[in-house]
Order: sequence, then C-alpha cells, then structure tokens
Amino acid sequence: MLKNEPYKIKSVRNLNFMRTSERRNNLRNVFFNINHITNSNINFDMISQGSSAMSQEQVSSLFLGDEAYAGARNFNALVRQVHETFGLKYICPIHNRYGGLKLLSSIMVTKDSVIGGNTDLPRPVVEYYGGNYEIFDDEITDFINRNKGNISFIYLDLQGGGYAPFPYKKLKLLKRTADDLGIKVILDLSCIVEYVYQLKNKQDSLKDKSCSELIKKISELGHSVLFDAGQDSMSNTGGFLATNNIDEHEKYRNEVVVYEGLHTYGGMAGRTMEVIAVGLKEMTDGKLMDWIHHQVSLFSNWLEKAGVPLIKGCNGVFLKTSQILPQAEKIAASSFAAALYLTSGVRAVLEGPFVEEALLPILIPRRALMNTQLKEIAEAIINVFQQKENIPPLTLLNKPDFFSEAQYRWVVPNLEVYDFTCEPYLIHSIEHVGMKSRKERKKAVIEAGYNTFLLKSEDVTIDFLTDSGTSAMSVNQWMSYLKACESTAASDSYYDILDSTKKIYGYKFLILTHQGRSAEHIMSQIFIRKGDYVPGNMYFTTTKLHQEMAGGIFVDIIVDEAHKTDSDFLWKGNIDLKKLEALYFKSQREGKKIAYVSYEFNVNMAGGQPVSMDNIKEVYSFCKPKEIPVFFDATRCAENACFIQRRDQNYADFAVSDILLEMFSYGDGATISSKKDMLSNLSGCLIFKDRQDWYEKALKMLPLFEGSFFSGGTSAGDMAAHAQGLLEMVEDRYINSRISQTAYLGKLLRNAGIPIVLPPGGHAIFLDAKRFLPHIDQDQFPAQMLASQIFIETGVRAMERGNVSKGRDPETGKNYHPKLELVRLTIPRRVYTQDHIKNVAEGIINLYKKRETIKGLRFTYEPKKLRFFQGRFEEVK
Ligand code: F0G
Repeated sequence: MLKNEPYKIKSVRNLNFMRTSERRNNLRNVFFNINHITNSNINFDMISQGSSAMSQEQVSSLFLGDEAYAGARNFNALVRQVHETFGLKYICPIHNRYGGLKLLSSIMVTKDSVIGGNTDLPRPVVEYYGGNYEIFDDEITDFINRNKGNISFIYLDLQGGGYAPFPYKKLKLLKRTADDLGIKVILDLSCIVEYVYQLKNKQDSLKDKSCSELIKKISELGHSVLFDAGQDSMSNTGGFLATNNIDEHEKYRNEVVVYEGLHTYGGMAGRTMEVIAVGLKEMTDGKLMDWIHHQVSLFSNWLEKAGVPLIKGCNGVFLKTSQILPQAEKIAASSFAAALYLTSGVRAVLEGPFVEEALLPILIPRRALMNTQLKEIAEAIINVFQQKENIPPLTLLNKPDFFSEAQYRWVVPNLEVYDFTCEPYLIHSIEHVGMKSRKERKKAVIEAGYNTFLLKSEDVTIDFLTDSGTSAMSVNQWMSYLKACESTAASDSYYDILDSTKKIYGYKFLILTHQGRSAEHIMSQIFIRKGDYVPGNMYFTTTKLHQEMAGGIFVDIIVDEAHKTDSDFLWKGNIDLKKLEALYFKSQREGKKIAYVSYEFNVNMAGGQPVSMDNIKEVYSFCKPKEIPVFFDATRCAENACFIQRRDQNYADFAVSDILLEMFSYGDGATISSKKDMLSNLSGCLIFKDRQDWYEKALKMLPLFEGSFFSGGTSAGDMAAHAQGLLEMVEDRYINSRISQTAYLGKLLRNAGIPIVLPPGGHAIFLDAKRFLPHIDQDQFPAQMLASQIFIETGVRAMERGNVSKGRDPETGKNYHPKLELVRLTIPRRVYTQDHIKNVAEGIINLYKKRETIKGLRFTYEPKKLRFFQGRFEEVK
C-alpha cells in the first residue's frame, strides 16, 4: 500500500477562506443555485472534471503548443499516445464530451430513431436531432429486442455516471449482439482507469494484466471510443473519438469541421492536445492509480462511518440526499448543497439536465487535494448531516431544463459552521519524485561519497536537504514571474520588491542580490575591519565565513540552552545579554571594536529556534546608545514572528505581519536569503532601515560582484516572484500551517523516542546524531553517516549540520567538534503533505531500531572552504 502521494507539490493555488456572512450573501445573489458562485468564493470545489492538478510535464506542455491551424505537431503526439494507450488507430479530436456527443448525434441520429444509453447525458442532444433517447439500466437485451431495427447507436458510459460501472461480462455480450444486429456501440471511456482498477481488483483472471493491456482489451469492445480528457488524462479540457474503423473515422472527419474545428484540432488548442498526450501516459501509472483510489476510499469510509448515506463512486461519493433530507423531497440534493456551502464553503455541483431526487456528487479532483483537506471536507459534510433536521428545503421558483437554470427561495437557517484548519492552498501542479529501490539508493550514496549534497535529485524520494529555494510557488507568483520584463536597468519588479520591503519590514533601503550569501559578503566588507568582533547568536556557515574573510572575529553569544538538544526552552535563539555585555567590555579593554551584532531570526543551526520579542528589544536597547548596529539575518523572519504569535501571550492576537514590523523596528538593517521564508526560488537582499550612507556604500559594491543597481544579478521574473512571496509569507493561515507541519514531524519522532532537538523548530527537525549514534566518535562524523543511512533506508535526503559543517580551526588545524552534531530534516515550503511527513517519520523510526549496525566515516577528499558541500567520505571498516 502506498503511504503517501507518489509526487510532490510543484505549485499551489492559495485559498481564500471567507466568512459565513459572505457566503450567505453569495447564496442570496445567485438564487441559492451554487453553480453560479465563482471560484474565489469557494473553499473546495468538489468536481473531478477538468479540475486535476497537472504534472509539471503537463504544465510545460502548455508551452509546447503548436497552434498551427492544420496538422499541428501536437495532433501527431496525441495520435501516437492514443494508439499506445487504447490501441486505436484513428483519432478525431473534439473539444470535450459534449462535442463528441454532438458529433455522433448529428451523424447517426435520424428522426424517430432510438438511441439507448446508461446515463442521461446524451438525452438533450439526441432529442434535439429528433431521436428518442432511452435509458436501459442493466437490461440491455430487453432494450435491444424492443427496438430492433430502429436503434442508431448505443452510448455506454463505462462508469455509469461515476457510480454504476457497467459489468464487464455484459459488455462482451453486448459487443457480440451489436455486431450481429449492426448496431454501433460508443464506449465512453473518460473514467477508464478507475474502471480498470476495479476490474483488476474484482476479477482474479485479470489481476496480473497491466492497466494498458486492459484498456486496450476494453477499447476493442466498442465501435468507437469517446474520451473526455478532463477526467483521467487530467487535462482541463479536450477529448477525442477514436476507432479502428476507417469508415467511421471518415464520417467523423467530415462532420468535425462543421461544428468542432478541423480534423487535426477538433476545437482544442494545440497545447491541450499535448497536455492530453502527456496525461494519457501518466494516468496508467500504477502508483498514481493506487493513490487516487486510496483517497476515494478514505473519503467514503469517513463519511460512511458517520452514517452518511451514500454510494461510493469511481472518483468520489454520491450522497443519497433524499434520505438525509426527507423534508426537502425532490430537491434534497440542491438543499443539502446550499447548506454545505453556507456552513463550509465546500461546493458540490449538480450538472446537466434537471432531474428530481438527484444524488449529490462530491467528487475529488485528481492530485489536487491532500488527505488533511479531504478529511476536513468529510467533516464539513458530516457537520451538515448532523444538523439535517434544521435544514429547511429550497423552494423552486422556475421550471428549469438544466440544473444551472434553477432558481430557489430559501429561509436561510442558522447552522453551526465548519472552520477549516488544513493547508490553505490547493495543489495546482505536481512533480514526480524518485522511486528507487533500497539497493539502488545504497549504490547512489557510495557513488556520492556519503555526501547527500552530491546525490542526484532523481534518486531522491522526499527531499529534506534544504528549505532553500525549494518552495512551491503559488500561481500568483507564477503570474508575476511570467509578466515580469527583463532589463539590466530599472524594472517594475525592483520597485515591487521595494514597495513590499517598506510594507513588510518597514525599511527604506533595498539592495538586491542574487542570494543571501552575497548580501552577507557585501555587509561584511562594508562593516568589518580586521580584528573587529562580530558577536552572533550561533553561526551560519556562509555568514561566519564572510565575516572571517573580512577579518572579523566571530563570537557566539547565543544562550546556553541553544546547545542543549534536550532543553525545552522556548526561545533558544535568544542572545545572552550577559555574553554580549562581557564582549563589549572586553572590546573596550582591548581597544577593539564590535562591528555589529549579527542577529539571526529563527536560528538555523540551533534547530530553527526563535528569538523572543523581549530579547530583540533588549539587544537593541543595549546596542543603540553604544552605536553598535544590530543587523538581522532575517532569512526566516516570518517563522520567527509566527512563534512569537504562538508562544508569547502578549502577541497572541496580533497578525504575523504586525509582529514582523515590530521585530524589524528594533534593528538597523538585515541580510536576507529570500529563498526561504520569502518563497522565492532565487534571490536575496540587504536592507537598511534609514541610513542612506550605508545604502550608498553597499550599492557601489553591486556592479563589482553582482550586477546592476536594480537587480543585483537577479532576473526580473525571480524578483517579481520574490515580491509576491513577501506578501504571501505573512499570511497567518499559511505560516501557521507551515510551523504545524514541522511540529507534526517533531511530535512523531519524539513520541517514538528518537533524540531530536527540542522544541521542534520552524523549518526543520534536527536529529541529535550524538545520541542517535553514541558509538561513533565525533571525528568519524556521526551526523554525516546518519544522513547517508536515512537516505538508504527511506529515500529521504537530509543534511549534516555538525563537525563536517563547522570545519577546522585554522589555528590548530583540528576539527572544531561543535557541541551540536545534528542531521537536519528540512521541510520545503508548500511541497509535502502530512502523509509524506508521516512516512518520513516511520522510516527514521525503523532505522533507529537498527542503529547499532551503523559505522563511522572518514574523508577521502576534503576541500578547504565550506567542506560540507564537496567533501567525500568512505565507511570506516
Ligand atoms: N543565512 C541563513 C540563516 C541561511 O540559512 C542561509 C542559507 C543563508 C544565510 C545563505 O543564503 O543560500 O541564499 O546564499 N541556508 C541554506 C540552508 C543553504 O540550507 O540552510 P543563500
């Protein structure tokens, strides 16, 4: 059984949870027909058609569109893939299922002919062409006998509207009868993958057949296949009719030009054909099938357990709302849907021809939802279910032909609302991850010299190497990215970041750099003279290096608790004021200078540990009168602000953005790697509160090292994504869900007795390698080996933060032997789900059980600077 998604998140769509009063108004504005509410007013839209998260390969296909009018390359790609997946030779593209039904009807329906089908979908178009449409349920032989000689075609949705799959045996029988009588059978295979999944699980003889073998077998049982690409192939639109019969195809080709478009695009953009071709390949992936099926089962089990009457369908559930709301009689489904939207913002859509006593479909978009969200959606439904007696029925005001036309009156009830606490974003696109075996991973680690930095990402299943530059961008960031215009001179993007800098940090001056470390370099070069002290709350590798390269003497003045991995102290990032004071007096005695206080928020190397607002204030009031600048490393400032909100009673009611502004007010400047909290994949900056002279000095260094004054070597697109990321990082729901995710990993490991740095930090959980592997000497790099073993065991890539990272003392040439010998499991932002996290914890717990078998390492190659990046090792025998 698959324990987590066989993919990670590539891009997200931020959700805008609205208030109940807004939803009430929205309902009134649309006559209580929720079909008419737009997406930005919906929390979760429970439809499976066209709503899947695309893979990044599909997204990139959007840019491969050959929009030629005739014979586009994309059409050929589609033809090849349909042939490979369905075994069918002739393809007629259509704009979607409706386009296909229109085409079939205009070709085959004659006045008074009979068309049989197992769902209501084709009825309107068949009747439009003068045919009689009849639903035959399962009794297909009766239907054929009754209408012999008069049937023009049979439409068979293999999934029977999503919840009544047509029996495979009957299908074979139907093909034979239809062949004998010369009746055409059109198979709607839009949800073929789920059908095949069920078939494999039900029928022993088919268990070992591959998904594509079965799809081909089933395709042969129709004269033509209709495929809506918004379903299994995870496109947003499009579709095709396919057949092996050249005469049929000839008819489609001739007719498709009348209504759909040319026979090589059929009303689809070139890019859509490419997306479908990719999707068709992906949809038969066994792991994806397992995951989609797993989600549907979980969802339906949660609801069934609570007693909600339903039919489990192939990609969601169908609520028997007439049973739930007997008082609503014939329009129970719409009434339930209105109550569900009112209380939770979840939309369940009724579509197609208006029918009474409809089932209410709650369908799951493929790949777009996490289980944490599905669970809460189930709870939102159960919340309505439990208030069923208090839900008055809608009253129909008109005589609609289609659900979309219906208008209702409603005495809006006062119901208990459901508030979501899950991740406030949907999965917009996904990235496939490495799925290597243990043996392959072992080989990869040895080849990488036991250095996880040297592993290939394609071998990694869950990448916890770093949270740096690894965030999933939001669609709004992508929008800004695509819109941005490159220039080496001034650009809008630069001013967008400047605006955000003023708004988010309250600082006036901005120097953009391509990364955090280049900002550190500039800062160090300007402010540090040889022999100056640079006190800081622990060190970060690149920060310390630049300070030392500028001639500074780094002094660690973090509180002692930071070095105690088992201390539960809440503000382990704090500066120890006594240490700062002592250093100040020492410098006075020695006639030396303190260049500045290097003050990191949410201290990375201490375990992602926050500093308290009180500490920031105290440090600033100590430094200010002595004219010692306080410069923050604000790389993880939003996480720190979130901890202040959660842990300091005085700030519990403050927005994270307000807390952040106050934090920055107690400082003079900051270096920032925007690749972390700022949700950017690249860029950094140096900011100053108000000192124009500092700004001007720093600015002059840009053309030396970075690039232009306005970009610091960052592309306009990355700048634009950075500007938008700044706004998103302070959203309370987002940043809280971020911190909670890390805390969850911490809790799972801690409960299993794994030694971790306490309390769980912001961006990462740090394993204490000294306690995990007490039998390995620190000079044999226990943390380095632990990171390697975690990869072999679980496919999770982590990072050493200990003796290797700290390096050698230049005076003695000996390893520094830092107190903290840690392995960092760093969680990228918006990329992994709770199921991923759970699986990571389980893998590490397994490894812990056999920890005694793990040996130490020795260098085979040791670089002089930042040796952890390129160093290579071998196992000590
Ligand atoms: N400061 C802190 C606190 C950092 O964590 C990092 C990078 C930097 C500065 C340097 O910024 O990478 O943009 O040049 N930390 C990454 C990490 C590499 O994995 O922790 P950069």
